[in-house]
Amino acid sequence: MPSWSEQPAPTTVAHSGANGFTRRVYERSVTSDADRTPVYVQWLITPPDKRLLDQHDPGYWPPLKDDEVLLEFAYTFTPFRGLGVMTDAMGQLLRVGAALGAKLALTYVLSDNIPSLRGCAKVGFDLDHVKAVSRRLGVHRSEIRPSSDADLQCWQQATAP
Ligand SMILES: CC(C)(COP(=O)(O)OP(=O)(O)OC[C@H]1O[C@@H](n2cnc3c(N)ncnc32)[C@H](O)[C@@H]1OP(=O)(O)O)[C@@H](O)C(=O)NCCC(=O)NCCS
Repeated sequence: MPSWSEQPAPTTVAHSGANGFTRRVYERSVTSDADRTPVYVQWLITPPDKRLLDQHDPGYWPPLKDDEVLLEFAYTFTPFRGLGVMTDAMGQLLRVGAALGAKLALTYVLSDNIPSLRGCAKVGFDLDHVKAVSRRLGVHRSEIRPSSDADLQCWQQATAP
């Protein structure tokens, strides 16, 4: 298990900084091991950050209230997978979100992404609702609906001890 900490992104992996949003949030959330090898990255998105996401992809992300944050785009670099990195790092980002005043954190995961669902469950996420995304003429549209019994069963199976 690498020992890692929150650090500014090494320039070698800061290539995704196509705009201020990506760079700023990336720097906040990238983690690396003692040799500064990138281990994990995830975006903690506050309401002001989300406006930039919306500009990039209108309609894709549901509304975010002032006291809510989104945790998205989790990625553990392959040599470090299955070591508990996501669980640890996402937990840290949740604490950062709480320190920024968030009362609720949202994250969206595809229903067949078992490692991600398990990692989210481990840091305290529960199934609340379902987001269905469609795309028409190149424009995304998100629909939020309450979770069904089938969704709940899927969640419980994926996250069972
Ligand atoms: C999803 C992802 C971030 C998980 O990162 P990770 O650091 O390997 O996760 P952890 O080691 O903390 O494991 C989290 C949970 O998933 C389980 N898990 C990890 N890899 C798994 C696998 N291949 N199959 C099934 N379960 C797996 C772990 O056992 C753990 O659950 P448990 O402790 O209750 O058993 C990583 O697989 C990844 O980057 N995937 C590609 C990008 C992606 O899908 N991102 C998520 C977008 S929502």
